Amino acid sequence: MKVLVTGVTGQLGYDVVRVLRGRGVETVGATRAEMPLDDPEKARAFVEATRPDAVIHCAAYTAVDRAEDERELCHAINAESTRTIAGACEEIGAKLVYISTDYVFPGTGEKFYETDDETSPCNVYGASKLAGESAVRDAMASGRFFIVRISWVFGVHGKNFIRTILGLAKTRDALTVVDDQVGSPTYTADLAELLADMVESEKFGVYHATNEGICSWAELAAEAIQQRGLRTKVTPVSSDMYPTKAVRPKNSRLSKASLDRGGFHRLPDWKDAVRRYLVELEAIGE
Ligand SMILES: NC(=O)c1ccc[n+]([C@@H]2O[C@H](COP(=O)([O-])OP(=O)(O)OC[C@H]3O[C@@H](n4cnc5c(N)ncnc54)[C@H](OP(=O)(O)O)[C@@H]3O)[C@@H](O)[C@H]2O)c1
Repeated sequence: MKVLVTGVTGQLGYDVVRVLRGRGVETVGATRAEMPLDDPEKARAFVEATRPDAVIHCAAYTAVDRAEDERELCHAINAESTRTIAGACEEIGAKLVYISTDYVFPGTGEKFYETDDETSPCNVYGASKLAGESAVRDAMASGRFFIVRISWVFGVHGKNFIRTILGLAKTRDALTVVDDQVGSPTYTADLAELLADMVESEKFGVYHATNEGICSWAELAAEAIQQRGLRTKVTPVSSDMYPTKAVRPKNSRLSKASLDRGGFHRLPDWKDAVRRYLVELEAIGE
């Protein structure tokens, strides 16, 4: 099997390539220069020239706040180029894994969202990722695709919330962090193993995949700080204290029943994922 991974320079793409190669799978990791999503025809040509058996599409426009001012660019990258890549996959008979987000849901209430619950994104980025999901469905009549919704991503290769918090905690005695947005972190090293299992299977469909357990951002910050052996105090605050350009969902709880139905393993608990992530950071001197 040959797998093409987009966004190899991002958090998830980097780990997906690492895991696939670790399993001995022939893997091509595409950079922005090789597959520019703002030039979909060039991206299509790269898929056609590579002729993979599967594409794991990790690249995306991920600047959630900037997207509010760059609606068209965000939509072109996350939806229209996804349509082109999905079309190329359909033509050459390749499977596609499209990475989506909890932001496709309205993010209100306290329920755990099921994969077939009604979607209604609360910001431009979420709308563009949902349009990407529709583009995959439209372009792949064969149904040979996986749509995998994830949230609160952290990995060794790139910026994320835990890295930011640990950086701040080094020099501050106290931090205020929002505690009225609740969800589950997703460790890219764990998710990459699941995605590798998926592309080896024919169990196509829509899945939710995050680490197990739920927390608020404040709880995630406090856990990372405590595990790191730092003493910085985390004070929970309302998100009204930190207005952002893009609205953030308060409820990012995703039901993982889809993984059970598909016969896939759920990811480990989020606290265990944080522990292993800190070991990984230490190994690179962070
Ligand atoms: N981060 C989260 O919390 C989160 C939550 C839910 C879902 N997701 C989804 O998970 C996936 C992986 O996220 P991530 O955190 O790994 O993202 P990331 O670290 O921000 O990486 C994004 C990747 O996309 C590439 N990219 C961006 N614009 C591009 C363009 N115009 N043409 C080609 N490549 C482009 C980047 O390349 P450069 O390095 O060259 O910029 C980078 O490799 C994405 O689909 C994202 O929407 C993320």
